[in-house]
Amino acid sequence: MKPAAVPLGPAGAPPGAPGAAASVAPPAAPITRVKWLAAPTSSAWLEQALAHPEPLLIDHAHCERKAAGVALQLMFRYPSDGALAAVLSPLAREELEHFERVQALLERRGIALRPLAAPPYGAALAALVRRREPQRRLDSFLVAGLIEARSHERMALLARHCTDPDLRALYADLLASEARHFGVYWVLAEREGPRATVVERLGELAAAEAALLAELWQEPRFHS
Ligand SMILES: [Fe+2]
Ligand SMILES: [Fe+2]
Repeated sequence: MKPAAVPLGPAGAPPGAPGAAASVAPPAAPITRVKWLAAPTSSAWLEQALAHPEPLLIDHAHCERKAAGVALQLMFRYPSDGALAAVLSPLAREELEHFERVQALLERRGIALRPLAAPPYGAALAALVRRREPQRRLDSFLVAGLIEARSHERMALLARHCTDPDLRALYADLLASEARHFGVYWVLAEREGPRATVVERLGELAAAEAALLAELWQEPRFHS
């Protein structure tokens, strides 16, 4: 079943992204869509997330650290690509700063950064990355970008609907970075072939990404 969309606050558009400009629905149903995502987050996910802020915060910390890891992994996989390192090194640093910020909030609240079972989302997206080069590079950038775009969309939702002022501030501060990170991965992807090919592959991966979120996972997670 196609998930119901939930209202999303105005969102910045990463540079160079196809259809990146946000659109606003009629006033009766003010919905701003993150257009490079094939489907918006469901109201069921938002309800679950708002009802379980603690595990979501722990998962958020893990996600920030993983995002830094993805950028570092790409730097190690393509060690001679100076242009890649020039954008992914600061991105990785920024993700670690986000991790530290979430970690500090967890500590202030006396919440342990315990391990959490991972939803299928990350592994299922990784499985879509083609194994041969140069397709592997393109898919890796696009998948990383889609995860950033989804993070941006969900942080915008939480910043708007969360009633906890500290959490609202956290999400509001971080969401613009995640949109920018999509832009970074999009610029890397654009180098990998004709624009039409890159856009077509983004469309395929975005559809798969949305399909993975069609069923709500039993546990609240940032990407489930
Ligand atoms: Fe981040
Ligand atoms: Fe990010």
